[in-house]
Amino acid sequence: WSQLCGDMRYVRGEFGDAPAHRTLGETLEEIDRERGHPGCHLFYLATPPSAYTVIAKQLGAAGLVRGSGSAGTTRIIVEKPFGRDQKSALALNRAVHDVFDEEQVFRIDHYLGKETVQNILVFRLDNGIFEPLWNSHHVDHVQITVAEAIGVGTRAQFYEEAGVSRDMLQNHLLQLLTLVGMEPPVRFDAKSVRDEKVKVLRAIRPLTVDTVHRRVIRGQYGPGMVGGQSATGYLDETGVAKNSTTETYLSTRLQIDNWRWGGTPFYLRSGKMLPKRVTEIAIIFKSPPYELFPGQGTEPPRPNVLRLRIQPEEGISLAFESKIPGQSMQIEEVRMDFSYTTSFGQESPEAYERLLLDAIQGDSTLFAREDEVELSWDLVDTLTSAWSGDKKARPYPYEAGTWGPAESDAMMAADGREWLKL
Ligand code: BG6
Repeated sequence: WSQLCGDMRYVRGEFGDAPAHRTLGETLEEIDRERGHPGCHLFYLATPPSAYTVIAKQLGAAGLVRGSGSAGTTRIIVEKPFGRDQKSALALNRAVHDVFDEEQVFRIDHYLGKETVQNILVFRLDNGIFEPLWNSHHVDHVQITVAEAIGVGTRAQFYEEAGVSRDMLQNHLLQLLTLVGMEPPVRFDAKSVRDEKVKVLRAIRPLTVDTVHRRVIRGQYGPGMVGGQSATGYLDETGVAKNSTTETYLSTRLQIDNWRWGGTPFYLRSGKMLPKRVTEIAIIFKSPPYELFPGQGTEPPRPNVLRLRIQPEEGISLAFESKIPGQSMQIEEVRMDFSYTTSFGQESPEAYERLLLDAIQGDSTLFAREDEVELSWDLVDTLTSAWSGDKKARPYPYEAGTWGPAESDAMMAADGREWLKL
């Protein structure tokens, strides 16, 4: 810490302030001179998104950006939200690219830095037994849940503009979906991995206004109890408009129209003020073609479910049917469990530890590329414009501390399925 502290400098200025950026440049030159080499300069924009364009412009104007081929290259980290729709994301990409090449740009999605998320590809592609089953011949459907027990807290101003669709679906949920759905990349490098993720986004069947109204369930929490504490309803949160239609819950069914996944739906859900914080990807396999033990277990027999528990209690489990010991043939579901804590005995590093190190080292595999961001906004734009085109429609209310509106269960029931208990 003392070494790090000793190396710190502080340059004060406004985002649009040209002289302050010149001082910043002089400070960086001084550090490079002291060190005797042109260091890699990494600008990390942990600022309001509205400032990204002006900062990029100022960095360029002050000559602070060295090209990607030069010694001591310059990089920029941009936090989410990267735009608020496809149009603004395109404009932001253009503004950033006026100054930085794409390989110098690191768009953070902190889910990609989570150990368990990085492990999705290792689990799928460094084992021989799962990948052959990872397709619509064997998988009935996939459920991806990102549930939070907290509300909007002090972020109402941001959240009113965002809702779950912009805050969670455009980035975290779709990132998880691409990692589960993608083809094996030819190599584990930034280009190969991101090329495959982009193909998944391209293959998602576009939603129409009609499918949004039927197949995308949006909810808004009302008052209730979460974890034994009473919880305020969204409309009573400080900073929320009394007639707000911002959604705090969303669930939907997406189809990936390609050879691997044709006919296997992906169900996604995320919400605030749900009963607990849990992120999980569940692969629900098809049932055996013939029931040999009718009436001896649950009816119909439960399918095998592979659960990738992203957080908390990180791990992977496989559920299968087993004979209960005894004279009669009675069947019950059991689980084979892998837990990170039991196997590795240590806390996983924070997502940001990994991502910041990768950005310093110039590895953008775990960052969103411009085309990923633009394609994911395309999907979210369809939802938000269908909703804003229907002024009378409101999100379905749900009580804080429950698993979202009943309409979400009804959507699953219409397909003959149900959300897994978490
Ligand atoms: C952020 C969202 O990106 O992710 C927040 O803006 C959300 O609204 C958070 O609470 C969830 O992250 P984690 O790592 O706690 O699952």
